[in-house]
Amino acid sequence: MDLSRESKRTLDRLEPRLETRFADYISKHPEEWQVFEARLNRHFEDLFRILHHLYGEHYDFFYHIEELLGVLASYWAQRSVELKTLDAERENNPDWFQSNQMLGGVCYVDLFAGNLKGVQEKIPYFKELGLTYLHLMPLFRCPEGENDGGYAISSYREVNPALGSMQELSNLARLLRGQGISLVLDFVFNHTSNEHEWALKARAGDPDYQSFYYMFDDRLMPDAYERTLREIFPEEHPGAFTYFPEIGKWVWTTFHSNQWDLNYSNPVVFNRMAEEMLFLANAGVEVLRLDAVAFLWKQMGTNCENLPEAHMLIQAFNSIARISAPALIFKSEAIVHPDEVVRYIHPKECQISYNPLLMALLWNTLATRQTDLLTFSMQERFKIHPRCAWVNYVRCHDDIGWTFSDEDAAQLGINGFDHRRFLNEFYTGKFPGSFARGLPFQENPRTGDARISGTCASLAGLEKAIYQETEREVELALRRILLIHSVILSIGGIPLIYLGDEIATLNDYRYREDPAKVRDSRWVHRPFADWEKYKRRHDETTMEGKLYSRLRRLIQLRKEIMAFGGAQTEILTLRSKHLFSYVRQLQNERVLAICNFSEQPQIIDGNEIRLHGLGYHFVDLVSGQPYSTINDLMLEPYQFVWLKVDS
Ligand code: GLC
Ligand code: GLC
Repeated sequence: MDLSRESKRTLDRLEPRLETRFADYISKHPEEWQVFEARLNRHFEDLFRILHHLYGEHYDFFYHIEELLGVLASYWAQRSVELKTLDAERENNPDWFQSNQMLGGVCYVDLFAGNLKGVQEKIPYFKELGLTYLHLMPLFRCPEGENDGGYAISSYREVNPALGSMQELSNLARLLRGQGISLVLDFVFNHTSNEHEWALKARAGDPDYQSFYYMFDDRLMPDAYERTLREIFPEEHPGAFTYFPEIGKWVWTTFHSNQWDLNYSNPVVFNRMAEEMLFLANAGVEVLRLDAVAFLWKQMGTNCENLPEAHMLIQAFNSIARISAPALIFKSEAIVHPDEVVRYIHPKECQISYNPLLMALLWNTLATRQTDLLTFSMQERFKIHPRCAWVNYVRCHDDIGWTFSDEDAAQLGINGFDHRRFLNEFYTGKFPGSFARGLPFQENPRTGDARISGTCASLAGLEKAIYQETEREVELALRRILLIHSVILSIGGIPLIYLGDEIATLNDYRYREDPAKVRDSRWVHRPFADWEKYKRRHDETTMEGKLYSRLRRLIQLRKEIMAFGGAQTEILTLRSKHLFSYVRQLQNERVLAICNFSEQPQIIDGNEIRLHGLGYHFVDLVSGQPYSTINDLMLEPYQFVWLKVDS
């Protein structure tokens, strides 16, 4: 079938019906309608092809297409003039997020500031830090008690009443935008909570809503699926299904039992979620973090992760955004094998993506003091589509999974399985001499797998140093924190700070006293923000001040160095296995970053730097010191330099 022709025919047939339906709006806003039609015509074929592939077999396929067009038009009609202006701006400047001005921050509304009003009051702080991107973790209505930190969503249209209202949320989005800060929210679209209206109807026995989820009467299908599935939260429930005796059914629950996976093989689910997405876009959200993208599509006999249809679904949602809310971009949360992570990154899929590989390898390198795996992996894998960007981070609200590629590791003689064991021992502090204080997360006795929880400061050695060691170890821990932050600030992409890390927040073990949290060790790195601690950030005699002042300075530098924005990154191989190095270049501006990942000083022969053809005379932007390749370059323990070619 000639899908291009079919897509055109479909649109030709449906557009007049749409025009009749929206006649009133069109007569009042003829220009806006023209803009919409132009976008619809530009992007409809992409959308049609995918939907035809996914749902073309359904006898009522065209009904769902027509319905979706109605959704697209009505959310466009409801979109504010202000956001429509932003749409046009972003279409003219699709690379806006590549700028070296970009800096992200992420927090929980309740833990950071109590509620949305509290977040609003923190805008001056966000400005001080330099944020241009603020990710507020799920703030929607969710079950009481265990709710996976809000990732079990009961309504995408109602803010959790304890945090505020929808009105406050869209006001906040506007205020933030006025200050140059884009609001980022999650689109938790793989699952809803078991208290979502759809789930409630399914639980009441409505077959239409039961088909929104994967529900089975007995173990036949679950057993068949589970033969090839990975267990995601094995400490919470084995396998991927949970039995609900009240309805006598097994429900697909990849994550927690109260997070029910949506059934995207049902076109109604796609259409309903498209509406939820556009609703969020119209509330002023500029970036949607697509949660748990890997799990969207299920197919018997596969691991049900990263299937081609999962990509198609995201692309379809993306086309919808291009048509009805073009300012919106997507960020991928795929914490999977690096080969799979990059497949979500494309201008037509997710424009930006977490970089879990860099994150995991920064921690790996701190543990081993060996940069070879980091260097090799980044040489192979850092480069992505030039219209896209990494979101580089050192910590987030989740655990650290050791998602490096075993194939890459094997090339360097490292056995992936054994090495992950070592890393888990190291970061839980069991390995002799380890500086880290982390906790295991989701240990799976069957496979030997585990992941790591803990704050940046505690994992980098600050907790141990403060309580058990000397000033020197405290300083080394601070340097580790700065070192890994220096990389995310300069290597290319949007740096994302897990708020609290900038003032050296330590692990908080009090989550163990809360029955809703005790079973999930990630709460150790999700404490309430301590504003007394924040107050000390300008006092350099305090721990907070020591870190904050140095980090702030790096952030300022990032914003002065154009080459730290969207530009080429070349990862170098230096002779010393303790050094990690890269060149950032934008037109004539070139900066050579060299990081010492060891607590021993390192000496680099000036010749080695010259051999990379970078010039003779530099200035280190971090220390302000000049450097010439006539001399050797000395790096202190954990020191990093940003050498700018002095021409
Ligand atoms: C994402 C979130 C994580 C949550 C999971 C299920 O990975 O980051 O916190 O547990 O999705 O929604
Ligand atoms: C996502 C990630 C997984 C992570 C989990 C939350 O599923 O893929 O690696 O651990 O969310 O913790």
